[in-house]
Amino acid sequence: MSKILVTGGLGYIGSHTVVELQNVNAEVVVVDNLANTTLDVAGRIQKITGKPVTFYQVDVCDTPALEEVFEKEDISGVIHFAAYKAVGESVEKPVAYYQNNVSGLISLLHCVKKYKTKSLVFSSSCTVYGDTKESPITENHPIVEAISPYGTTKILGEEILTDFTKFCDTKVVCLRYFNPVGAHKSALIGELPLGVPSNLIPYVTQTAAGIREQLTIFGNDYDTPDGTNIRDFIHVVDLAKAHVKAVDYATSNPISLDVFNLGTGVGQSVKEVVETFERVNDLKLNYTYGPRRQGDVEQIWADASKAKNVLGWETEIELDEMMRSAWAWQQTL
Ligand code: UD1
Repeated sequence: MSKILVTGGLGYIGSHTVVELQNVNAEVVVVDNLANTTLDVAGRIQKITGKPVTFYQVDVCDTPALEEVFEKEDISGVIHFAAYKAVGESVEKPVAYYQNNVSGLISLLHCVKKYKTKSLVFSSSCTVYGDTKESPITENHPIVEAISPYGTTKILGEEILTDFTKFCDTKVVCLRYFNPVGAHKSALIGELPLGVPSNLIPYVTQTAAGIREQLTIFGNDYDTPDGTNIRDFIHVVDLAKAHVKAVDYATSNPISLDVFNLGTGVGQSVKEVVETFERVNDLKLNYTYGPRRQGDVEQIWADASKAKNVLGWETEIELDEMMRSAWAWQQTL
């Protein structure tokens, strides 16, 4: 595998992906603007893999700076993570989301076209399926309307890429993530949420650590077996490994653009997740039930069979380990 540029490579999913790429001896170049991470993650990656990280502090929206990286490094493929990712924040700041996520992609495509980059893997999300009741959900489910500006930027990203591949030779793979959780088993890298977390697992671990007083489970009156939402939680290392497969696939397959769901294929309720966290870590979590959160989909989990059949990828890590590793990571913070 030749040189892979990872944008947002010091972020949560990015850093785990850099580790997996280095583990298969890929040459990796990272760009990150450090908006939502810290520089020491590069050193932590090196501690895990024993390999240095080639790093540029560059904002992908800064096209001239990004071009310099392409000019200097012989990039054959890109994995594009660099983007804002908080659903709630996107409702408060929609324009910032269009600007950063859409302009960032366009800036990157400028370089990809100019330097004739062979492949591009795009971080998409199950949020593109909108408010659906159909689970397990396949990649063929229609993309209708996003439930947040964040979701809109993912739908627009996929649309732009679909169009782009009609006119350029770059092979594109869009990966639709379900709910990534957990941390590397070394506990050297993990999620670093800024401020009050909006995602479930950082809120759970911060409550267990005493940083937050109490977790509120948003709604127990849904039409699900225990009344709480159902999601497809996937360990971030499994997710990272799928990117390695996707880069290989993009470079060798004849299809110009393809899309894959990345999940376990199993739905788990928020209550089950909280109870698993308590059991595997042998602690009691202070939690209560509150009203539903606006914009939450009742239940969604992946049909992950396409990724298994085409990419030869499937998840290996169970919910118990997701919850153990999330807590181990929290305890290092
Ligand atoms: C959403 C998006 C996902 C996106 C992610 C990024 C959908 C279907 N999913 O995930 O694509 O990548 O945001 O942030 O749009 N919860 C609580 N208490 C809390 C926090 C969360 O009960 O304090 C519950 C939520 O109600 C939800 C579940 O936990 O049922 C997971 O929530 P969260 O971690 O925020 O992720 P999603 O909203 O599922």
